[in-house]
Amino acid sequence: MTTPTPWWRGAVGYQVYLRSFADADGDGIGDLVGVRQRLPHLAELGVDIVWITPCYPSPGADHGYDVSDYTDVALVFGGMAALDAVLADAHAAGMRVVLDLVPNHSSNRHPWFQRAVHDPTSPERDYYVWRHGSSDHPPNNWRSNFGGPAWTWEPSSEQWYLHRFLPEQPDLNWRNPAVHAEFDRILRFWFERGVDGFRIDVAHGLLVDEQFRDNPVAPMEVDDDVDPRGAFSIIEHVHDQDQPGVVDIYREWRRVAADHGAFLIGEVYLDDPAKVGRYVEDDALDAAFCFPALHTGWDAAAMRRALAPSVAAGRGRFAWPMSSHDDPRAGTRFGGGARGAERQLAYFTLLAALPGIPFLYQGDELGLENAVLPADQLADPVSVRHHGAPGRDGSRAPMLWEPGPGFGFTTGEPWLPFGSNRRPEHTVAAQTGVEGSILERTRRLLATRREATAMLAADDVEWLEVAPHVVGLRRGDMVVAVNVGGPDADLDLPRAAELVYTTRPGASVSGARLRLPTDVAVWCRLAQA
Ligand code: GLC
Repeated sequence: MTTPTPWWRGAVGYQVYLRSFADADGDGIGDLVGVRQRLPHLAELGVDIVWITPCYPSPGADHGYDVSDYTDVALVFGGMAALDAVLADAHAAGMRVVLDLVPNHSSNRHPWFQRAVHDPTSPERDYYVWRHGSSDHPPNNWRSNFGGPAWTWEPSSEQWYLHRFLPEQPDLNWRNPAVHAEFDRILRFWFERGVDGFRIDVAHGLLVDEQFRDNPVAPMEVDDDVDPRGAFSIIEHVHDQDQPGVVDIYREWRRVAADHGAFLIGEVYLDDPAKVGRYVEDDALDAAFCFPALHTGWDAAAMRRALAPSVAAGRGRFAWPMSSHDDPRAGTRFGGGARGAERQLAYFTLLAALPGIPFLYQGDELGLENAVLPADQLADPVSVRHHGAPGRDGSRAPMLWEPGPGFGFTTGEPWLPFGSNRRPEHTVAAQTGVEGSILERTRRLLATRREATAMLAADDVEWLEVAPHVVGLRRGDMVVAVNVGGPDADLDLPRAAELVYTTRPGASVSGARLRLPTDVAVWCRLAQA
């Protein structure tokens, strides 16, 4: 018996940052009614999987990544009925909807944590990670992603609790079987409601060292009040993430997901693709995001270094993002302005050819760069709590739908400003139907990909050494090449080919010779041998 091909093979993903996507009720915060109204945009773009960031009730300390009820939809996002309508319409349009599951930590306002604090003899106490110690000395040297120690003293019981993010996000204790049972119930609840899968937040984090050993000291002084996330990233996280046993948790979830044909994709935020590769297996996660792809700059050698080992480790199961709500947008990373936009489209043209799931972040299809925001209007706790430290707001500014004061995002005041660098010509409306707009070129790329059946069917990639400043690969009958900021290049293809997609005019194929201008990416279909 052969295993049927899972529905997500060959799919294209799109991340909706819910608060900033579309606001239907005018309160300045994006909601699910807004998502529903904008589904046609995603369908026309060629999206198959829509990931929506957390929509659950939450006090909002980390904008929804602090969940106080895992089986409801917050009223500010339209409540359960609005989600049901999104599911129905998305399914009718042939798209799948993936919610964001936050199993590493709950909100400190979740009833579990409230009981844990107020009644240390309750079963919920052991849903979290507590350590004895003295109030002036945290149990070990683990740091929070968002600055400061990963431990907060709870005075009434005279114990420390673990939180690798904000103190308002206490870490759940995944060594407790009761926590497993709770999430088994939560997964079933949503799958039975028609949700097609989950993006799993901090998927590499659920377990920590049983002995709570110190991490090795960082090579340089960690001043995490200046740049908390940067400081966190230079620490060697030997004992506080990616621990043995974490993949077994996903093996349990796979059995639940399998009953519903549901999709599990992990935020496995590790630099080493080989480590990430261990999370994706038939019996574990379907897929994982490839973060090296999201961090590389506009540099051919760096791109090859990031992508080649990732493609090998991913075995068709990595998702390829270039931007996210946590990281600077690709257009900004690649130099900003019109050139940054061209380059991010060129980069996406490369990612879209890799085995796995190319993933757009809202606004990537418009070529947006990071929003420039006034310092006194930042909202990310990373910046707010650390005197304006580099935060994530620049990539979280609202989506640009139409020219006008609220950019078609809201009729009210947006919860986060649009940014002083936003222009009417960036909007979806201004780019629709306009030959040469980033939006139309992205659409055409995804339409070309859909037809590229021989390429999509090929599991392997052959990296081509054509020129130092050109990243080139062959997958099936397709040769894909991007000129990463070097001089215009004339390259030899393995044999005669036809140019099926170019990000910009100026590229051409004549016989087996490819002309590739700077900052341009192409797809060339090889003639039959
Ligand atoms: C993930 C999310 C990020 C959030 C963090 C804590 O990294 O993408 O936005 O702040 O987890 O939940």
